[in-house]
Amino acid sequence: MDIEKTLAALTLPEKAALVSGKDNWYTAKIDRLNIPALMMTDGPSGLRKQTSTTNDINNSVKAITYPAAALSASSWNTDLFHQLGEHLGVEARAEQVNILLGPGVNMKRSPLGGRNFEYLSEDPLVAGKLGTAYVQGVQSKGVGVSVKHFAANNRENQRFTSSSDMSQRTLRELYLKAFEIIVKNALPETLMVSYNRINGVLNSQNHYLLRDILRDEWGFHGAVMSDWGAVANHAAALSAGLDLEMPGKGQPSVDEIVKAIETGELDEGTLNKSVRHLLHLIQNCPTNPHPKAYDHEAHHAFARKMADDSIVLLKNHQNELPLTPKNQGKLVIVGELAKHPRFQGSGSSHVNPTKLVTPLDALADSGLSADYQQGYTLDDSETDDQLASDAIAAAKQADHVIVFAGYPEKEESEGFDKSAILLPENQTELIGQLTKVNTHITVVLQNGSVVEMPWVKNVAAIVETYLAGEAVGEATWDIITGKVNPSGHLAETFPLKLADTPMAPTFGQDPHHENYSEGIFMGYRYYDTHEMRVLFPFGHGLSYTTFEYGNLVTKSDAHGATITFDVTNTGDQAGKAVPQLYVANHASHAPMPTKELRGFTKLSIDPGETKSVTFHLNRRDFSWWRERVHRWQADTGDYEVMIGESSHDIRVQSKLTMDFENAPAPVTLETYLAKVVTDPRLRGLFQRTVVAPLLQPDVPQNLFSETDADHQPLLFQSRMYLNMPLRALVALGTPAKPLNDFIQAANQSR
Ligand code: BGC
Repeated sequence: MDIEKTLAALTLPEKAALVSGKDNWYTAKIDRLNIPALMMTDGPSGLRKQTSTTNDINNSVKAITYPAAALSASSWNTDLFHQLGEHLGVEARAEQVNILLGPGVNMKRSPLGGRNFEYLSEDPLVAGKLGTAYVQGVQSKGVGVSVKHFAANNRENQRFTSSSDMSQRTLRELYLKAFEIIVKNALPETLMVSYNRINGVLNSQNHYLLRDILRDEWGFHGAVMSDWGAVANHAAALSAGLDLEMPGKGQPSVDEIVKAIETGELDEGTLNKSVRHLLHLIQNCPTNPHPKAYDHEAHHAFARKMADDSIVLLKNHQNELPLTPKNQGKLVIVGELAKHPRFQGSGSSHVNPTKLVTPLDALADSGLSADYQQGYTLDDSETDDQLASDAIAAAKQADHVIVFAGYPEKEESEGFDKSAILLPENQTELIGQLTKVNTHITVVLQNGSVVEMPWVKNVAAIVETYLAGEAVGEATWDIITGKVNPSGHLAETFPLKLADTPMAPTFGQDPHHENYSEGIFMGYRYYDTHEMRVLFPFGHGLSYTTFEYGNLVTKSDAHGATITFDVTNTGDQAGKAVPQLYVANHASHAPMPTKELRGFTKLSIDPGETKSVTFHLNRRDFSWWRERVHRWQADTGDYEVMIGESSHDIRVQSKLTMDFENAPAPVTLETYLAKVVTDPRLRGLFQRTVVAPLLQPDVPQNLFSETDADHQPLLFQSRMYLNMPLRALVALGTPAKPLNDFIQAANQSR
């Protein structure tokens, strides 16, 4: 499609139709110009493709139900997230879906957040890196994504109107950062604007958010769509930077845009910008003309693998686990959730599973044998005396007991927040009773977000399976039997009690405003700074093997630092470690958390084997948002790097002195081409990361195509181009990806 010619050929009502969804799932099509409709489908942890016009969220085609984000994020595994994206992309192609509505990358600010199960982490780096891999995976299959919900949508109650009130520093450092990482590194096709306001301004009408930050600062080139029903004034939203209202209101949407142009309320040039973005989107995400069924068994197996890599062993007193056919003795399983598991959240992310395998279904294949006791009902939170006493009697006779516990479905959903983080009373009471008659109790948790555990000290083991997807049964036994060595780590803190969370007194109290008064001190940034005890710290997760850390070496220069260390598997079986790099800033006068996550990885290590890990930190990793000057600031002075297995379990640490005083200014989209061309290091890097890929024969004609006898772009000799910032090259059609790669590499430590 020639975008400019198509744009010129469109009538005003046709343009208005394009920026208004046709219905719940489709964009408008314009047959006259061969412009096809795009189909979108939720997301994020499986396809919810609705074939009819029904509004029944649970009525969708069968699809693989992958673990909810709360569990999959606990993998801390970017490779697996890439593969998850690929699997979803293949399924979307098979279902002729053009855009998958995910991932959800909002911060889990309060444990009460109703959608926490659908979000990745309380830390923006975890959400940003995992989200990047997911987006790259989906888009590698020719399917677009919609990264949601942009931005600061951290509560569900009154989500259509409530204002998230916070400082600019808090917004930048925590609530925008995951989006920024994904936009810059994965170039998502679309972003979804959330319902809420930020500091009083409705997100769908927020020019600063949608244009100044997203497009001008971050270089976003995709399309911006609304969350379903997030548009209050379509013309004002388009003026602010929205491209597509979803779902459209039909003809009234078209009429209102035509009228807004006629009255001058909306500028036609602005409308054209949005239409251009949509035409690009339509071009980039074509419908699969030859849909082929995908291999359901193989995809189900991947759902199991994803859960295997993510389930978190929270506690394992005196090696209660693994339980195998050899050591299980008399085993009793208690809890209705073993039979009717919670394996996904409710709301728009609900998937109609292809093959749900419950823990009881999968028991025989695990090699274990056990009696089953229901113990409690999910329908009621009152204790059923008969069920409870049968379970207690069986537990008395058992060598080991596994209790399945969790939140019932009605308590955890999109659309409303929680009011407490305790399990239903009948479950809490039953676990308490069981611990009185047996010391070998393992609790398996099925929950979308954190729980208080008044019984934590009295049980032998705790396995956090969150909402594990359709392979819940198989994956649960993989971990319990040791077929898979657990390697999941929490991507959020479990506080001792709700009252310990910094926003406990105010969360959701004011219908119109949510006051982020804790600022940047959220999650572990709060608990660790205040030296508070928690139930399980951020990043925590046990293994059936042990890892030792050593040989920490740090090197720094004006651009950043390189941190190298060794991890050794000191146990007797293979396992996966999740080394986490935290940095403490002692250089700045501004208030700082005692530590912040600045890097992580996941690696498989054989028994006795040592692997070396290297993290690179750039200037931005040492920076904080300075409101007065409205930019990132890196301070010269002392820092501390800490490597650990959780935010509490720091294994090696070292001081680091950074000198940014004499550092050249960092390269950004605002850097002028002249500076790049005249600095030999930058010029070489630019040649490799930007020019060379654009000179490949299969790349269409572009600004760099014309070269001189030395293969140097003629552009380097043009005073007009030399006097343009990199941002302008993007506006002139240079793909943002190589430029962002260049910027990242340019700011990397040498
Ligand atoms: C949700 C989005 C979802 C959309 C379409 C909205 O209610 O907030 O996450 O993608 O519905 O189902």
